[in-house]
Amino acid sequence: MNSGIDTLCHKLEQTLARRREKGRLMVPPSPAKLDDLIDFSSNDSLDLSTSGALTKAFMNEIKTHPAFTVGSTSSRILDGTKQYLLDLERDIAKFHRAETAMFFNSGFDANVALWSTIPQPGDFILHDEYVHASIHDGMRRGRATTLSFKHNDCQAFGSCLEKIRTENSGIAEGSQVVFIALESFYSMDGDSAPVVELLEVAHKTLPRKNFIFSIDEAHSNGIVGPNGSGFVSHYGLEEQFPIRLQTCGKALGSTGGIAALLCNETIKFTLLNYARGVIFSTAPSFVSAAAVRAGYDIVGSKEGEDRRKRLQSNVYRFYHQLTSHPDWPQIKRKGTIYLPTEHTWNLGPFQSPIVPVVPRYDLADDLAKYLEQAKYWVNTVHYPIVPDKMDRVRIVLHADNTQQQIDHVAVLIMQWAKKQGGRQAQL
Ligand SMILES: Cc1ncc(COP(=O)(O)O)c(C=O)c1O
Repeated sequence: MNSGIDTLCHKLEQTLARRREKGRLMVPPSPAKLDDLIDFSSNDSLDLSTSGALTKAFMNEIKTHPAFTVGSTSSRILDGTKQYLLDLERDIAKFHRAETAMFFNSGFDANVALWSTIPQPGDFILHDEYVHASIHDGMRRGRATTLSFKHNDCQAFGSCLEKIRTENSGIAEGSQVVFIALESFYSMDGDSAPVVELLEVAHKTLPRKNFIFSIDEAHSNGIVGPNGSGFVSHYGLEEQFPIRLQTCGKALGSTGGIAALLCNETIKFTLLNYARGVIFSTAPSFVSAAAVRAGYDIVGSKEGEDRRKRLQSNVYRFYHQLTSHPDWPQIKRKGTIYLPTEHTWNLGPFQSPIVPVVPRYDLADDLAKYLEQAKYWVNTVHYPIVPDKMDRVRIVLHADNTQQQIDHVAVLIMQWAKKQGGRQAQL
């Protein structure tokens, strides 16, 4: 007779086999393999972690607090809220020009806490269709009505907002609120939210101003804005975005991926009282908080500024090398490779380090293998993480990528694309 675990594992194996058959099984690469490859993939886009700069700053932070205790010992609502954590929250709120900040063990946790707790019954959440899975998970657990609008489409956004207003008296009268959920740099698409235009539409459509803009700055924190303080701060729109999420596991390079949720005291106190992930989980430890402080110290320094400049110039170079390649017009015409950001990447004041390269016929893995043979590591992303038939190679540029490496990756992509000519005729 089968035991319970045998029965369960049989079912799980079948599920995994189906995913494998579709070419969508996710198998993390071994650390040993990655050691040997050049990073065009990780979110450590300023290379704070990889370069060892963060390790040094972290060790200094540890040295200046020799009496530290490793753990936070409790949930935040018990005795887990240590002075070090409070000081860090205060300083980071100041850095991002927010009233206050609240740390979570990860950006994922912060989004779940926020979206499951803060919007109230009768409220609406209108979100870009491509917002992160953690926002979806939070909304699913929450009590507000959720709607999406077409990615980065201001007209679609306006129509949705108008529909919400005309069909709901609470919204029309201003007694209920519409939350608007955006990302600064979209994590799989590498484009950025048209925040100024979206704000304009909201002001026109909801004259009572009963909307709350929120933005997830996971991929822009540390990379853009004064001293790396982010996308919203670049535009000076802090007051228009009462809720901002800054994760620290990407350009900040931290271990643990602590997130700072920038908000006001009422929202923070509500989260402390009602967010299950805060109440029933151990508070962030000193070690995680110290790594975050060390990351912010670098980001706000001259080294941070130099790294940001190098990153921007590397992103520019990569796009330029790819799109000015003599074969690019032909490859584009044939549709061998689609570059969703081709017409938008250089419109704004800065570029996102994420460059999605979408090969035709779901050949993302094939392109990634081609690059890997030349010792470059890139990630592939498959459905359902991205829309069906839009599997992609997600390239992330880094501050410490050399010009030679960048040029080589662009040339390899074009070489691979040219080779596809004969192959596509057979498909
Ligand atoms: C847009 C966005 N938000 C939130 C997160 C979650 O952040 P963390 O890695 O700190 O959990 C991610 C990470 O993938 C992300 O891309």
